[in-house]
Amino acid sequence: MRLILLGPPGAGKGTQCKRVIDRYAMAHLSSGDILRSQRAAGTELGKKAQSYMDSGRLVPDDIIIDMMIETMKKAASGYVLDGFPRTVVQSEQLDKSLAQNGEKIDGMVNLQVNDEIISARLTGRRSCPKYGAVYHIENLKPEVDGICDKDGEKLIQRPDDNAEVVASRLLTYHEQTAAVVGYYQDKGNTVINIDAVQDVDDVTALIFAELDKLDGQVK
Ligand code: AP5
Repeated sequence: MRLILLGPPGAGKGTQCKRVIDRYAMAHLSSGDILRSQRAAGTELGKKAQSYMDSGRLVPDDIIIDMMIETMKKAASGYVLDGFPRTVVQSEQLDKSLAQNGEKIDGMVNLQVNDEIISARLTGRRSCPKYGAVYHIENLKPEVDGICDKDGEKLIQRPDDNAEVVASRLLTYHEQTAAVVGYYQDKGNTVINIDAVQDVDDVTALIFAELDKLDGQVK
């Protein structure tokens, strides 16, 4: 399956992606994770992206489109796109690139969370810098406070998870990203809306139930 996992910042995309890729043996292609690793490595791309990410704005389309299409070329046929596409222009270019190989997006999972919940989720988030596992200081605690369960690394807080930048990221989502759902609906793609204001495991169960059906249709 080729899937898009969409939703506002803090909707649980990264959390759910980890579970989806384990169950369906897919690759996890996260534009945010790739940008953060480029920044950590000090590349030109990472330097260009820095000011946009730190202020909660989108990195320009041309940079992101080239980066993600190159990444997809190296991936196997089954993957979940997390954080991409995030504008209608990105969606159009993604579809165009897939169509050149006779491919298409099989479905989109759209995680729905209202703005009030987002801030608490993001300011309480802690992540493993190596493994990428995501925790929350109240909702999803690691076994040992501040330490990743998977590899023992010290957990970190993302610099864009402060209240001011979160507000900017939410505005960006409503102004530029929410329209991606309508774009795929209008094209007749499968769009699975999930109420993501529930326990993490309950959200996972809803996603698996829908993806089991979709997986059967795609095969
Ligand atoms: P990116 O890294 O993609 O960030 P985001 O979309 O803002 O999403 P997050 O990673 O913050 O949240 P998430 O939905 O993955 O939630 P998570 O699972 O961690 O992008 C960062 C920046 O890069 C952008 O601002 C932009 O500048 C740039 N960028 C990236 N892609 C781009 C693109 N395509 N175009 C242009 N620019 C781009 O969960 C959050 C917290 O909530 C965690 O602590 C988790 O434990 C908790 N949680 C999760 N689910 C639940 C639940 N059901 N109940 C309670 N708590 C929960």
